[in-house]
Amino acid sequence: MDSFSASLMKDKREIIIAPTIYKFQNFGEFAQEFALGERDVVLTNEFIYKPFMEQYNLACTYVFQETFGAGEPSEAMIETMYERIPYDSYDRVIAIGGGAIMDLCKLLGCKRPSSVHELYFKREPVVHEKEVIAIPTTCGTGSEVTNISVAIVKDEKDGKLTGGETKLGLVSDDIIPNKVCLIPDLLKTLPYKPFAASAIDALIHATESFLSPHRKTVTSEMYSVKAMEMILEGFRRIALEGPDARLDYLGEYVTASLYAGIAFLKAGCATVHGMSFPLGGTYHVPHGESNYALFSKILEVYDEYQPDGELGKFKEIVARCLGCTKADALRTLNVTLEKVLPLKPLHEYGFTEADITGFPVSVMENQQRLITNSYRPMTKELMERIYRECF
Ligand SMILES: NC(=O)c1ccc[n+]([C@@H]2O[C@H](COP(=O)([O-])OP(=O)(O)OC[C@H]3O[C@@H](n4cnc5c(N)ncnc54)[C@H](O)[C@@H]3O)[C@@H](O)[C@H]2O)c1
Ligand SMILES: [Fe+2]
Repeated sequence: MDSFSASLMKDKREIIIAPTIYKFQNFGEFAQEFALGERDVVLTNEFIYKPFMEQYNLACTYVFQETFGAGEPSEAMIETMYERIPYDSYDRVIAIGGGAIMDLCKLLGCKRPSSVHELYFKREPVVHEKEVIAIPTTCGTGSEVTNISVAIVKDEKDGKLTGGETKLGLVSDDIIPNKVCLIPDLLKTLPYKPFAASAIDALIHATESFLSPHRKTVTSEMYSVKAMEMILEGFRRIALEGPDARLDYLGEYVTASLYAGIAFLKAGCATVHGMSFPLGGTYHVPHGESNYALFSKILEVYDEYQPDGELGKFKEIVARCLGCTKADALRTLNVTLEKVLPLKPLHEYGFTEADITGFPVSVMENQQRLITNSYRPMTKELMERIYRECF
């Protein structure tokens, strides 16, 4: 086992909920409670700012992520963000957006390193200095409560740049946001497809935490179960009534994804995330969608190995929420998910036959922290089978 996983397993904390959690009806209520002013910097997207924030004419500084780069944070994007937002220009950081914006704001709360590269390769310490308030506008990553900030950085081996890039998580309890505000109203403009992919991601966080063989605790299980129940009820409604059924249930989705984040910060994600990382990194498949592409097959492989135990309890929860028998739970779950978001075979994302054998090698090398958390012990051969059957 890698040393990072070993240290996580020694952690005796029952649960980690570092931020104080608030809930508001709309952005105005939040701005009033926190007395937003000149020394606050708000990182968001213009298309979230316009409908929800512009009307309040506040004195805080709004910065739009798209002015220094779209998509997932990269080394270059973070350096540009640092230049665009001088460190002495603010006292508080407010993240209003998806996982990418929340991850960027975690860095704005910390002392500036000599370079982003040095920070991600842990040659410079993480020094948290400014208060960070995280307000998620998607319902998936749980980044508002986690201790990770993910970025695409220049890859290096033995201290030398390889010329390639890799996705790395900067991990430190010091970067967990200080406050989380849930404002379901802000999810109203989230288009259906990123909504569905992020909600499925949250369901997978809850499931992987629930099935975690070594790190789950009584309290993390409670958060996993509640998150699964809320999300499955939402999916049952979408399957019956169509995508608009999400609109009067957004508060439950954003709360459930927070609960799933709390669960996985303690219990950990596992094989679904581990195997989806090279897929997301190589073919730029959105995070939730790349997890979804592998989720059902991995559950099937778990079911062959040990259908009772924690997986049996998982099937009971699914059966109760979706109104089917325990024996039919995994099939009914797949049918329901298919109605929420049609499942695509891996080759439609660009995945090739060579990846069937190539990706397991990369997962074994780079994703031990996730693979050690697998319900069924993972081998290269088993991963090849999963990729082949999803191909
Ligand atoms: N720190 C962590 O714990 C953690 C965990 C998992 C993933 N991540 C990172 O989070 C990112 C993925 O997060 P995500 O799934 O939230 O996606 P995202 O942040 O990329 O957002 C998805 C898309 O939806 C748009 N969007 C977000 N909210 C909107 C709204 N209210 N209205 C209209 N459009 C909106 C975004 O601009 C983007 O185009 C990745 O960078 C991933 O690496 C971090
Ligand atoms: Fe995830």
